[in-house]
Amino acid sequence: GSGTFVPAVVVGTGYGAAVSALRLGEAGVPTLMLEMGQLWNQPGPDGNVFSGMLKPDKRSSWFKTRTEAPLGSFLWLDLANRDIDPYAGVLDRVNFDQMSVYVGRGVGGGSLVNGGMAVTPRRSYFEEVLPQVDAAEMYDRYFPRANSTLRVGNIDKNWFEQTEWYKFARVSREQAAKAGLSTTFVPNVYDWDYMRREADGTVPKSGLAAEVIYGNNHGKVSLDKSYLAAALGTGKVTIETLHQVKTIRQQKDGTYLLTVEQKDPDGKLLATKEISCRHLFLGAGSLGSTELLLRARETGTLPNLSSEIGAGWGPNGNIMTARANHMWNPTGTKQSSIPALGIDDWDNPDAPVFAEIAPMPAGVETWVSLYLAITKNPQRGTFVYDAAKDRADLRWTREQNAPAVAAAKSLFDRINKANTTMYRYDLFGKQLKAFADDFCYHPLGGCVLGKATDNYGRVAGYKNLYVTDGSLIPGSIGVNPFVTITALAERNVERIIKQDVTAS
Ligand code: FDA
Repeated sequence: GSGTFVPAVVVGTGYGAAVSALRLGEAGVPTLMLEMGQLWNQPGPDGNVFSGMLKPDKRSSWFKTRTEAPLGSFLWLDLANRDIDPYAGVLDRVNFDQMSVYVGRGVGGGSLVNGGMAVTPRRSYFEEVLPQVDAAEMYDRYFPRANSTLRVGNIDKNWFEQTEWYKFARVSREQAAKAGLSTTFVPNVYDWDYMRREADGTVPKSGLAAEVIYGNNHGKVSLDKSYLAAALGTGKVTIETLHQVKTIRQQKDGTYLLTVEQKDPDGKLLATKEISCRHLFLGAGSLGSTELLLRARETGTLPNLSSEIGAGWGPNGNIMTARANHMWNPTGTKQSSIPALGIDDWDNPDAPVFAEIAPMPAGVETWVSLYLAITKNPQRGTFVYDAAKDRADLRWTREQNAPAVAAAKSLFDRINKANTTMYRYDLFGKQLKAFADDFCYHPLGGCVLGKATDNYGRVAGYKNLYVTDGSLIPGSIGVNPFVTITALAERNVERIIKQDVTAS
């Protein structure tokens, strides 16, 4: 039998999924969200929901036996990582052959683990990346809607200039200026007023207690506090957690039948369910949505899917790097985990770079300036279905990241030259290297808008099947992506609800 029927199912609870669920709920459509991760609202034995970054426990990681922090090594010592029990923790690192991808797991997806940087892309670059989307409509209507619903805010500039917590960013700004580079403030969904109270010592610290990639116990307005709270508030949306969608097939009457595995937080299979729906929205992220559709195409459960499924993937040009400062230029023992400034050299025609000035909240003086550079790398990867492992494999080589490394290097060589400083070579793994080119935080593409789908995310070859997340964006957007993912989902779902859902 086909188990439960619901009019609409949304897979995942990240940005694209949350937008879809809220707008479906407001339209009165009973909607079920299926999320493989947990709902993060129960305090653990230490009284906190999430474990911090400096002493991570099993809550930090998605079924690992050891944590896999991006800066695992420091002075060649593996200080940051810990042995842990496999558990449905909040941060996953999906390791492919030559690229690892960090993703969030839980109600809120990436919003639980990300740095909250909420950047609207340059309009000219948005138009270059998604020329078929009406940019005027995006910038007049959907970007403002996304920013306000996400509750994006700006840091108080006077406070920024005097607080010890952003000394690291001011040091990097000064060094960039010496090389003729300008910086810009980066908006965030972190509650800046709360952070000031943290600094005053009147509330529990989170951003000022080195919390970010394993979850923030306070301060961050993640999706569970914005879009998803509003979605639940419509009374039409429900969320099932620890439910992973495995297969999708279309039934004779056009409805979709999903098989879903329910597990406990230790990974024990509790039930395999069948859920059917009329409208199916895939918001499982670039990796998740692409894998579901690839599996469906390759195993024949959705045989009419296009050959474009799996194509057009990129890491948004992500490259991390770090510089060693002179002894007279300490970056501070107190560092907010929430970035506030970026070096903006995107208009440099030779090597466009937007580089976030990242904190290194180690609690001790490190003299390190850390950066996440977003570069314009034209290289793209492809997902292929690995039948033996029943998973999507990423075809992407280290070599493909060479243009991104070159762009980052040209910018940071300038900064090093102007300040007579050097790179740090000890932070990114066991071998010495200055550029982390083998992992990313910004997976984009796999079901590209206008290729694997129509111009609104309707999957080619099937009715009432939609992709709503970062897999729509073809590999690059030039800034941190979640505002774009959110705004694009707002645009698409508005059209879909009007034309496909309320009509049926
Ligand atoms: P997203 O990945 O958010 O959500 C997908 C959800 O689907 C997850 O909850 C997952 O568990 C679930 N899922 C997957 N497969 C499933 C299945 N088969 N069944 C059920 N559920 C399934 N961006 C930015 O703009 N500013 C920033 O500061 C940062 N910083 C940052 C730091 C770190 C550490 C990371 C990992 C990422 C960032 N990002 C970021 C990136 C940003 O978080 C990311 O682009 C978005 O979360 C992607 O949104 P999506 O809607 O595509 O999916």
